[in-house]
Amino acid sequence: MLVNFNRMLRDAQVGRYAVGSFNVYNYETMKGVVEAAREAGDKPVIVAFGAKYLSNMSLDDAHALACSLSDGAGVPVCLHLDHCKDTDTIYRAIRAGFTSVMYDGSALPFGQNADNTRRVCDVAHACGLSVEAELGSLAAGDASHEGTAADRQVYTDPDKAGEFVERTGADALAVSVGTVHGLYKGAPNIRLDILEAIRAACPVPLVLHGGSGVPAATIRDCIARGICKINVNTEISVSAVEQSARLLIQDKKPHFSVLALAQQVFVKEVALKYIGFFEGTGAI
Ligand code: 13P
Repeated sequence: MLVNFNRMLRDAQVGRYAVGSFNVYNYETMKGVVEAAREAGDKPVIVAFGAKYLSNMSLDDAHALACSLSDGAGVPVCLHLDHCKDTDTIYRAIRAGFTSVMYDGSALPFGQNADNTRRVCDVAHACGLSVEAELGSLAAGDASHEGTAADRQVYTDPDKAGEFVERTGADALAVSVGTVHGLYKGAPNIRLDILEAIRAACPVPLVLHGGSGVPAATIRDCIARGICKINVNTEISVSAVEQSARLLIQDKKPHFSVLALAQQVFVKEVALKYIGFFEGTGAI
C-alpha cells in the first residue's frame, strides 16, 4: 500500500530510528529497495523518485510500479518526489498519485522559499500528501547526481528553522549540517551542535540528505538528535555500476535479463546496509 510519510516519520521520531529514503529510477532500483524493506523485516520505506529522472520514467509509470511492488511485498511504501524546484511537476506528481513531495526552494531567499513551500503545502495537504521542505543547502561531493559542482554548503540557521516550519506548515524539514550530496572527498564534518539547535527550535521530523558514505556511528549520532529520514542515492548507483562492470567482465556477455536481475540484488544490498545503520540506538 502506498502511504504518505507522516505516520512513518512520527513513529521513527518516537522510536528514535530513521526511515530510509532511497532514490529509484527504474524497475531494478524500485524492486531492489522494496525487497530490502521486506527482507529487513517489513520495514516502512520511502522510494524517492528524483524529479531529474523524468526521462527515465514517467510519473504515472513510477506510481503504477510503486503500487504494484508495495502491494506484492506487503510493506508500507511512501512514493516521494525528491528535490523538486518546479511546482508544475509537483502538481503533476500529486495528480499521478504520489503520496509525498519535496519542494526544494533552498536556493531562494528565505521569504520566497517559505511562500512557495506554503502554497505547495496547501495543495498537497488537501490531497493527503506529506511535504518535505529544505532550508540551507548541501555542497556537492564526488559523483553527485543531485546538484552541481558549484553547490556550496550553507548550514541551516537554527534561528530561522522554527519560523520556517511554522510559516510553511511543512511536515518534515531537510537540514544542512555538513553532509554532502555524493561521495566525501575527505572525512565528513557533521555539525551535531547545529543539528541539536535545529531540533530544539523545530518540532517536525528532520531529514538528512547526502546519506551515501556517512559512517554508521555518525548516522546514529544524527538519529539521536532528531533525524528521522535519511536519503541515499549515490552509493546505490556507484555500487550497482561497479558490480555490473565486474559481472560483464566475468561473464563476458550475459543475457540482459541476467544483468537486470543481478542489478536488483546490487541495489537491495546497499539499501539493506543502510536500513541496518538507520536503526538508531536511542536518545543521547
Ligand atoms: P547521496 O547521493 O549523497 O546519497 O544523497 C542523496 C540525497 O540526498 C537525495 O535527496
